[in-house]
Amino acid sequence: DRPEDLTPRPPVVTIMGHVDHGKTSLLDALRATNVAGGEAGGITQHIGAYQVTLESGAKMTFIDTPGHEAFTAMRARGASVTDIVVLVVAADDGVMPQTIEAIRHAKAANAPIIVAINKIDRPDANPTRVRTELLQYDIAVEEMGGETQDVEVSALKREGLDRLQEAILLQAELLDLKANTNRSAEGAVIEARLDRGRGPVATVLVQNGTLRQGDMVVAGTEQGRVRAMLDDQGKPVIAAGPSVPVEILGLSGVPSAGEAFVVVEDEGRAREIAEFRQRRQRDSSAAAGAA
Ligand code: GTP
Ligand code: NA
Ligand code: MG
Repeated sequence: DRPEDLTPRPPVVTIMGHVDHGKTSLLDALRATNVAGGEAGGITQHIGAYQVTLESGAKMTFIDTPGHEAFTAMRARGASVTDIVVLVVAADDGVMPQTIEAIRHAKAANAPIIVAINKIDRPDANPTRVRTELLQYDIAVEEMGGETQDVEVSALKREGLDRLQEAILLQAELLDLKANTNRSAEGAVIEARLDRGRGPVATVLVQNGTLRQGDMVVAGTEQGRVRAMLDDQGKPVIAAGPSVPVEILGLSGVPSAGEAFVVVEDEGRAREIAEFRQRRQRDSSAAAGAA
């Protein structure tokens, strides 16, 4: 893309942290919805992707990740597509194993971290302890003489949300995020599954260009024409620009999460690329089997 083709795009913000520290609740508060209340056992088991429009009109895309220790791969994928990581640490619990893991993923992905010290409403909340503990992992917040932004929040009482949004906007401004809306789309598969009625359904994040209904896409080893697209509320959309997460229908199979997707000119080309990738996958698993 030429510099003159680029326009600002919303930041992609991944929410990470230890199990039950309040990631989904915080995202619910930011979206004014209630996803956490409907989860089995109150445990997030997949990646959710949502776009939020602030009162100012500014948009940001949020990716929720599970905090349970079993979901390391999902956290790694969440960190890999993100511009910014919001690290949620419960003020009553402090830095815990998956907090540390999340810090590692963020650093590996080179994503700046904003610390959200949550559950500040709790009588046993100790935000100073959180800030001190983070020093051990090379995260120095401003109060500790460092440069990492931190915000005290309560997802439950909906406190500190404006400051958190401001911190994200400030960080996004520093990153100077841009994309070209006037080209064919490319991006990443966030998650995918086989739906009984609708067939393969993939949640994709458009990272550059604009994805349109009817486009021919290759996603990992799968391909197909986008039959329908749904936004994060389940509403049909016909186009999705940079940083927008959408569910797409019409793929030949279920692509692996984390795979790249790209729009190609026609069906022949899509099949060619998908078949090449399937062959390569078979060859490499055969090689691994022989070794
Ligand atoms: P996983 O996705 O399973 O890792 O959990 P999570 O980090 O998304 O946490 P979740 O939003 O499911 O919240 C866990 C528990 O903490 C729930 O019982 C919430 O009601 C509670 N909780 C979340 N935020 C706050 C808060 O600000 N204050 C208090 N007191 N409780 C909170
Ligand atoms: Na939870
Ligand atoms: Mg959750």
